Formats: sequence, C-alpha cells, structure tokens
Amino acid sequence: SKVAVVIVAAGRGERAGQAEGPKQYRRIGGKAVIWHTLKAFLDHPSIGPVAVAIHADDAELFAAAADEFADRVTAVIGGATRQDSTRLALLALQDTKPAAVLIHDGVRPFIGADVIDRTIGGIDDEHGSLPSLPVSDTLKREASDSTVAETVPRAGLHAAQTPQGFPFGPIFAAHQRAFEAGRSDFTDDSAIAEWAGIPVRLVLGSPDNIKLTWAKDIAMADQRLSGHSP
Ligand code: C5P
Repeated sequence: SKVAVVIVAAGRGERAGQAEGPKQYRRIGGKAVIWHTLKAFLDHPSIGPVAVAIHADDAELFAAAADEFADRVTAVIGGATRQDSTRLALLALQDTKPAAVLIHDGVRPFIGADVIDRTIGGIDDEHGSLPSLPVSDTLKREASDSTVAETVPRAGLHAAQTPQGFPFGPIFAAHQRAFEAGRSDFTDDSAIAEWAGIPVRLVLGSPDNIKLTWAKDIAMADQRLSGHSP
C-alpha cells in the first residue's frame, strides 16, 4: 500500500530573517522551497496522500506555491510547535487509513528518492526508521562560563534528518498521548517514538538533505539549483 506523508511547514523561520517572508516560500531555482519538497515526494512511486501543516497566515502563499499538486495534497493549519503541527497533520490523514507515514521538514527540499527508499525500507509494524549521518565534528559540552566543560565522544552519535517513517497507528497514538500528557518539547518524531517505546531504525541519510535554516542556506540552495557554483 502507499505511504502517506506529513510535511511540516507551519514555522515562522525567524532565523532566516523575516523580511523576505517565511523560508518555505522563498524561491530557489525559480520555485518555492515547499514546491521542491512536495515534488520530490509526489514523484516517488510509493507515496500516497500528503498533508502539509501550514501557518494560518500562509494560506495564500501555500496555494500559490503548491497549486499544481492540489489533487494530492491537503493543507491543514499547524500548531505552535513542530510537534503540534505534526499531530494536526496526522489527524488529517487518519481517514485515509495509511499503513505507514513519513514525516518531513518542509525546509528540506533536497530530499532524494534514495533516502525516501531507505527510510521506507526501515519501517515495519513494530519499527520506525530515520535517515541520519554519523557526526563528523568533535563535540564539546559548554560550561556555564563559556569554556569547554568536556569533549563528548562522538562514536555512535548520529545527526538525525527527515523524513522519519513510522507505522501510522503507533505514531499517531504516541502523538496523541504526548499531547494529552502536556508534552510539547519533542524536537523530532523519533523522540516521541522513543518516549512511547517504539524502536526506531537508523538508515543512511544524505549530506545533500540539508535543512534550510539561515538566509545563507537559501542563497546557496538557489545557486545550486540555478547551476552556479556557490
Ligand atoms: O524551526 P525549525 O527549522 O526547527 O523547523 C523545522 C520544521 O518544522 C520547519 O519545516 C517548520 O516549518 C516546521 N514547524 C511547524 N510548526 C511550527 C514550528 C515549525 O510546522 N510551529
């Protein structure tokens, strides 16, 4: 059966500078960031319905950016946190009864079919799956006086990417339990799965699958798609 997709795009993206508008609607290679993200999933043969969490103020921006995908994409108004936006988008997919769901940051437009395949391949009835890369920097824990408290061994540490994939029923139930428990501090869906006791498999991510966070990231992404070297 087809895999459903949640794309969270309801953030304000304040780190990229608000003057130019939310980063998921900035143009790279002539199209909105969210257009590229949607295109990558909708072109993949395993993907079914897609729900996108958007900010209430962005309905027109989203309609303009995703107009050509309207028949397969449902927009829902997101929440105050990434976690809440995800829960609301899962709720919107419930009626389609998907066996599995991928949950992806709207601001990762360079997601490729290889990472989607590996993530789907890691999901089963009991396991979630997430793409990651081994941490390559040496990690320092900061002391209160801004000096180095200690070096954190990086062996076994991974930087998590999205999409994160799960069997639909268990991750939806975990989100609802987290909401009812008043938890709103989970920064990704694997953290909720861990909390709920759903084991999550690590699969290989990609260095291309970056999250556009800063204004500089948007400029680099645009240069990359426009064929100029940054
Ligand atoms: O702010 P950050 O880069 O961590 O956001 C990650 C993703 O979560 C972004 O795609 C952003 O739009 C989304 N988000 C959301 N609802 C929020 C906050 C963030 O959908 N309230």
